Parts: sequence; C-alpha cells; structure tokens
Amino acid sequence: MKKHLVAPSVLAADFTRLAAEIDMVNQSEADWFHLDVMDGRFVPNITFGMFIIEAIAKMAQKPLDVHLMIVEPEKYIEPIRNAGAHVITVHLEACPHLHRTIQQIKETGALAGVALNPHTPVQLLEDVIEDIDLVCLMSVNPGFGGQKFIYQTLPKIRKLHQMIAAANAKTLIEIDGGVGLQNAETLLQAGADVLVAGSSVFGAKEPLTTISALKAFNAVFV
Ligand code: DX5
Ligand code: ZN
Repeated sequence: MKKHLVAPSVLAADFTRLAAEIDMVNQSEADWFHLDVMDGRFVPNITFGMFIIEAIAKMAQKPLDVHLMIVEPEKYIEPIRNAGAHVITVHLEACPHLHRTIQQIKETGALAGVALNPHTPVQLLEDVIEDIDLVCLMSVNPGFGGQKFIYQTLPKIRKLHQMIAAANAKTLIEIDGGVGLQNAETLLQAGADVLVAGSSVFGAKEPLTTISALKAFNAVFV
C-alpha cells in the first residue's frame, strides 16, 4: 500500500527560532517542508520569498515543497527553483496559460504542482492532469494558517482521485489548510497523498509526536 507524505507548513513555525524548528522537522518522520510564498495581491497576506527559501534550503534535509500564492508566478519559477525548491506549486486561478507554466516548472527539473482554491472545481484540471506531479487542494481560503477545514473539500478529493485513476496518472493529491489529527484519516481514506499541516504541528505540545501520529494513519481504500 502506498504510504502518504506529511509536509509541515513552516508558516506556523516560530521564526525567532527558525533553525530549531527546521531541525525539529529534520529529526522527525515528516517527508517535506511546505513553504508558503504570499505576495499581498493573490492573497491578502505577505510572507517570504527566495531569500528565506534559500536560508531554509541550507538547513533542510528534506525536499522543499514551495506553494506560490502569487500573481504572475511564471516570473519567479526559475529564481524559486534556484533558491532550492523541489516541488513548485502555482495556483490555477493565477495562471491564464497554465499548460505553459506547468512546462516551465518541469523544465527547471522541479516537480510541478497546481493548487485550487476551495471554490475551483477539480474538473478544470482534466486536460492537464497527466502533466501535473501534484494537485494541491486548498481546504481553507489561502492566505493564513490556523483556519478551519472546509468540509466540501472531501468530495473534491474523491473526484480528483477518480480523475487521476481514469487517466492512469501518478499525480499526488495534497491537502492544505486545517489538517490535523482530527481529520487526517478521513482525508487519506478519500484519496489524499500529501498532508500539509501547519498549526497542528508547530502549535502542538509535542510536534515530533504529532508528526509521527500523522504518519501512522492508514488509508483503507474502498
Ligand atoms: C494557507 C497556506 C497553508 C497554511 C496551512 O494559505 O497555504 O499552507 O500554512 O496552515 P494550517 O495547517 O495551520 O491550516
Ligand atoms: Zn500552503
């Protein structure tokens, strides 16, 4: 059985002790670091860019999964890759030429991801699904950590899972926003492959134990 991945979202880390937080993830059972880049235009918040990604890349011993919540992401794909990204995810809503942008990501050697806002139907990806390494389903409105999981995401996971299977593709389904111990198993059973977890990991009393618990769930496909 395929084992899912866990990607702690560094947005929820304590940036006054970032090195220790990165080290915690390095020592943990987590698979990737999830890094949220926000521009104050696509989303109503600003986080960090290449400079911080590069600093994190120097310490991180696991792949960097970079989620671009920015307009015109095509302008930053090469710099983000050069900063150390292994997975680069752009928003469908920010890409009028999505096919071209996906190819641009792949040409850098990174894995190509496409993120969908909660209101965006998964069917819009039908004609590019075979070209995408990962689909990030936003289960909160992007922009902030610590929000409540939107339950309408569940049927989207199931639909996307079917679409990927029908295309015989290997695309991973990533769920981002409001993910924690309370819903991880349900998400995996619906077909999730990657669980992004911010506040549920970094806000936990024992982040290492929480990561292990998120990894320990099993998906029993029906
Ligand atoms: C939201 C970001 C998420 C966020 C998740 O816009 O894309 O990655 O950090 O945070 P939690 O897990 O706290 O909802
Ligand atoms: Zn994210």
